[in-house]
Amino acid sequence: MKFDRRRFIKRLLVAIASVEALFLIKGGITNKARLSEDKKLIRVGKSDSYEKNQVYPFLSHHFYLKRFEDGGFMALSIKCTHLGCVINHNTKTGGFNCPCHASQFSPKGEVISSPATRPLDYYPMTIKNGELYVDTSVVKRRKSFLKSQLTYV
Ligand code: FES
Repeated sequence: MKFDRRRFIKRLLVAIASVEALFLIKGGITNKARLSEDKKLIRVGKSDSYEKNQVYPFLSHHFYLKRFEDGGFMALSIKCTHLGCVINHNTKTGGFNCPCHASQFSPKGEVISSPATRPLDYYPMTIKNGELYVDTSVVKRRKSFLKSQLTYV
């Protein structure tokens, strides 16, 4: 068998290029995943910047931040659990109304009036360095309101 130097160098270059391409693809995927995870963890700030028994809309991030009378926080999804329309905060009742088929929800997100049959979903919250974060990458479904769904500082 005759040693073909040109063919050997060509194959070597193709092999090196393939290995580099694999590293680039892997790195790109990892960075993209890290970026999208960061974008879904929404920093909403210090707890003392929110008054008790009030609702604060973060509509571009798809949640209402509710602070309850006992100081607990809940990030309620803005999506109606009937067919997914965007709910409105009812400033008179403290609850939420759906403009599409008139479902109504309590301030805790429980169904007051159908056609929705289950409470509003919510997003888990965490505290880092005294600041509140809402993790919009995880949507929590529930059958009823439980105090354990609230986040306390
Ligand atoms: S989508 Fe909200 S009541 Fe139908």
